[in-house]
Amino acid sequence: MKTSIIKGIGYYVPENIVKNKDLEKIMDTSDEWIQERTGIRERRWVLENSDESTSSMGTEAAKKAIDNAGISPDQIDFIIFATLSPDYFFPGSGVLIQRNLGLKEVGALDIRNQCSGFIYALSTADQYIKSGMYKNILIVGSELHSGGLEKSTRGRNVSVIFGDGAGAVILQASDDLEKGIMSTHLHSEGKYAEELAVISPATKKWINKLVEDPDEDGSSYAPYMNGNFVFKNAVVRFMEVINEALVKNNLTKEDIDLLIPHQANLRISQFVQKQLALPNEKVYNNIMKYGNTTAASIPIALAEAIEKGMLNDGDILCLAAFGSGFTWGSALIRW
Ligand code: UT7
Repeated sequence: MKTSIIKGIGYYVPENIVKNKDLEKIMDTSDEWIQERTGIRERRWVLENSDESTSSMGTEAAKKAIDNAGISPDQIDFIIFATLSPDYFFPGSGVLIQRNLGLKEVGALDIRNQCSGFIYALSTADQYIKSGMYKNILIVGSELHSGGLEKSTRGRNVSVIFGDGAGAVILQASDDLEKGIMSTHLHSEGKYAEELAVISPATKKWINKLVEDPDEDGSSYAPYMNGNFVFKNAVVRFMEVINEALVKNNLTKEDIDLLIPHQANLRISQFVQKQLALPNEKVYNNIMKYGNTTAASIPIALAEAIEKGMLNDGDILCLAAFGSGFTWGSALIRW
């Protein structure tokens, strides 16, 4: 029997900082509105003509995770790549990581679970490790949102929220059964698929029809979000799935040493924190400086929390996410 431990972690964010004040120049919004509703002060957006991509950012994060794990790239047995903003419609970005890192011809799996993508990837990797199939799995969550956002007043309820960045971990098989992933919990509710979605390009929209359609205004290419509705579902599902993990492991909320919620909105994180009655030092948020980086948000936040010394041996770490799909999930890890 093996358990899965996070052996290495790394993250990468583009250099270009976009402050709320910068957005005021391109759409009808304000620093005050954005901070009050989301907590975000700034985010990273790649420069429009840069060479950066979802896979290139993921590659940088992966290099750091490999280094941090103290393994060599040829020890990686499998790649799992989570994103909603892949370089290409197909193939997925996992194979680009395999190429960029010059890895052996290991398998590369792409995960399409948006804000829950990292938790889904972690859960999948955990099963491969516990079954004995793989020893070292590279998990990457990376998003280049900025190229797909509608940076105008029409798109303001979405575009002010999302940021670019990547995080990666090496999940490793361990014989120490006292440590590692205790359980993961995954859910979906597809009846709300269109409440937070990018509809095109898609096989449901025939490409020749789109080109000919005089009514096509490009809006189906930009993310749509029913913000209020997503918010209300998020706070309920976050709590449910965290409690599910605690119950499964015979723990209570008092046992959580560190909670890292997916960084969707600071108000959502604060609501969850309040419900769990956790003090500030037991919750880590960084949405203020990066915005919502979707599949990358948990590994970036976890890497920063580790840098800040917020995790000690034996601590109970809780990760939780909710997003488009709807999909949601949690993971409990003994550090
Ligand atoms: O990570 C995946 C999951 N995503 C989430 O969990 C996001 C969940 N939702 C949210 O975070 C919030 O719903 C938002 C931050 C997106 C929006 O906040 P809200 O408090 O729900 O605002 P709202 O959508 O109800 O809009 C309030 C007003 C509207 O104007 P009217 O109709 O009251 O005149 C919007 O048009 O704010 C307007 N508005 C803006 N104003 C300035 C929407 N976006 C902006 C903006 N700047 N960027």
